[in-house]
Amino acid sequence: MPSEAQRRAVAPELATVVQKLRDAKNVLVLSGAGVSAESNVPTFRGEGGWWRSLNPAELATYSAFQRDPRLVWEWYDYRRGLIANASPNPAHRALAGLEAPAREVFIITQNVDDLHERAGSRRVVHIHGSIWRLTCLADGKTYEDRRVPLPGLPPTCACGALLRPDVVWIGESLPAASCAQVDDYFHESWIDVALVIGTEATFSYIGDWALRAKRSGALLVEINPNPTVLTPYVDVKLQGKAGAILGEINKRL
Ligand code: APR
Repeated sequence: MPSEAQRRAVAPELATVVQKLRDAKNVLVLSGAGVSAESNVPTFRGEGGWWRSLNPAELATYSAFQRDPRLVWEWYDYRRGLIANASPNPAHRALAGLEAPAREVFIITQNVDDLHERAGSRRVVHIHGSIWRLTCLADGKTYEDRRVPLPGLPPTCACGALLRPDVVWIGESLPAASCAQVDDYFHESWIDVALVIGTEATFSYIGDWALRAKRSGALLVEINPNPTVLTPYVDVKLQGKAGAILGEINKRL
């Protein structure tokens, strides 16, 4: 629960964001691992992100997978277990609750979990893929597989080839279909408010989309307990955890 001092500190800014959201027709959300942190899904670069004393940034690469596909799959199988047992938290629910007949909410998420959808959000683009899909390394076909744990690691395709998680690893390009959805959204929508929530914004495309929304007239808001590379550029910084802050916003809408 945020302290009284924290509540008072964010109050004026919160009021600005609430007012803007009340009148908004189009809300863009850029979400990252911090949004799922309160569902006990560890972030990448924060506390609890390391697995077996291995840095996720060293596991989430194609070269790590080539070196030891079983180890990388053991990590994804562990994350699939965490996500299968996780539930949407107040942040996910508040974002789903923002959707209204006169207010469209479009979520671009780096998260490979499905907690936004499980909370009821209808327009979600996963730019880093999904932990529930597997891709055959031979023919590139993708399958949905929600079995936890996966029987036999590393999993193989019916054709005998290795399967990889259908996620975007560090250094890999984004799925063309997701980028096209994002581009279409920017072309079709006049964005009133852009919420950047729970992300370090490590990848330049996150900053690009945030600043593109700001240049098109949106109020750019960051919700994060810590400063990020984007903080100097936002219109409003709401410092704190997403669950508490979005819960407060929803209460006042
Ligand atoms: N509420 C809001 N923000 C939070 C919370 C919370 N409860 N807890 C942590 N954060 C913030 C942290 O301060 C940090 O800025 O979430 C951010 C998490 O940063 P990262 O772990 O780097 O996650 P993200 O920015 O989403 O990058 C993850 O990087 O490795 C790739 O593909 C991988 O999608 C993944 C992406």
